[in-house]
Amino acid sequence: MESGLMVAVFGAYGHTGRFVVARLRERGFVPVLSGRDADKLKAMAYESGLEARAASVDDPASLDRALAGAAAVVNCAGPFATTAAPVIEAALRAGIPYVDVAAEVEANHDTFTHFAARARDARAVIVPAMAFYGGLGDLLTTAAMDDWTTADEAHIAYGLDSWHPTAGTRAAGVVSRQRRDGRRVRFANGRLEYRDDAPPALEWTFPEPMGRRAVIGEYTMADVVTVPSHLPIPDVRTYMTAEAARDLSSPDTPAPVPADDLGRSAQTFLVDVVVRSGGVDRRAVARGQDIYAVTAPLVVEAVDRILSGRIRTTGVASAGEIFDAADFLRSLSPYISVALHR
Ligand SMILES: NC(=O)c1ccc[n+]([C@@H]2O[C@H](COP(=O)([O-])OP(=O)(O)OC[C@H]3O[C@@H](n4cnc5c(N)ncnc54)[C@H](OP(=O)(O)O)[C@@H]3O)[C@@H](O)[C@H]2O)c1
Repeated sequence: MESGLMVAVFGAYGHTGRFVVARLRERGFVPVLSGRDADKLKAMAYESGLEARAASVDDPASLDRALAGAAAVVNCAGPFATTAAPVIEAALRAGIPYVDVAAEVEANHDTFTHFAARARDARAVIVPAMAFYGGLGDLLTTAAMDDWTTADEAHIAYGLDSWHPTAGTRAAGVVSRQRRDGRRVRFANGRLEYRDDAPPALEWTFPEPMGRRAVIGEYTMADVVTVPSHLPIPDVRTYMTAEAARDLSSPDTPAPVPADDLGRSAQTFLVDVVVRSGGVDRRAVARGQDIYAVTAPLVVEAVDRILSGRIRTTGVASAGEIFDAADFLRSLSPYISVALHR
């Protein structure tokens, strides 16, 4: 769709924000660059020829100015524990859809808890975690379910060959650890559970060529909020390849560096989703390159579908609920290749 519609991007000059801005342009939108640092915005506006509007989450009027005339806002500025609520409030005041890329379990949970009723009453659209973590896993789980309306378990295994985290990922991790008071979280028995024990060290058999790998079990990602927000699955477990978990926990792992002309790093991923009902498994598998870069086609496809009315509900909704999951996944080619085994 060559819409020419303006889409505000808060956190535009961040690592993920830059991929989102580039993808919005490719899809015919006009990004409006926003964020808290006027100098970084000015530099990006100079490079790109796009309009920049500085704004702070502590100053609602500045956010209103940033969103003026925009058809939607994408929030790429994390930690979302700080940015999500003020930017959602601004989107509600402007009467425009809000989409974010939050990976923080608690921040995503807060978005559902604090805004569900108001968004539903206003027929507003708020899509949290419309990103690699949270959004993609939910789309895959929903597509794997097919005609099932319930399942006993969902397992989402992240097969990352490495994980070079950005400063934003590290900052989000710090905030999440503080909010958990040193505990870990998992989704079991239909609710988020906070625990003091160590997560299980397991093995997971990924589709070839990755094969059997050491993983950290209950390596809890945003999918434990997005999936149960609309699918009655009492156990939603996420897993992470041990080498990627080690990369993230090491303070010395460098940030991602571009390795191709799209600016993507060399990191590859495989997301292996198994839903289980009555002992029967259904599976969805996604493969691609660079978890940060791939967030951009996910976000921009979501914005395009929202603005062209291809949605199934309003209110606060995750990707799997608001979109036709299988159709959405098909549209992500060539960025993500997906196989459904139902
Ligand atoms: N769910 C997923 O799969 C997924 C994928 C990609 C990214 N993310 C999340 O998105 C966030 C950004 O990641 P990134 O890779 O783009 O990191 P990044 O390159 O470090 O960028 C972080 C951005 O957030 C901005 N920011 C931080 N605190 C802010 C505040 N209080 N007000 C306004 N702006 C603020 C930063 O601005 P300054 O430079 O001014 O500090 C910067 O623009 C992280 O929380 C990350 O976890 C999630």
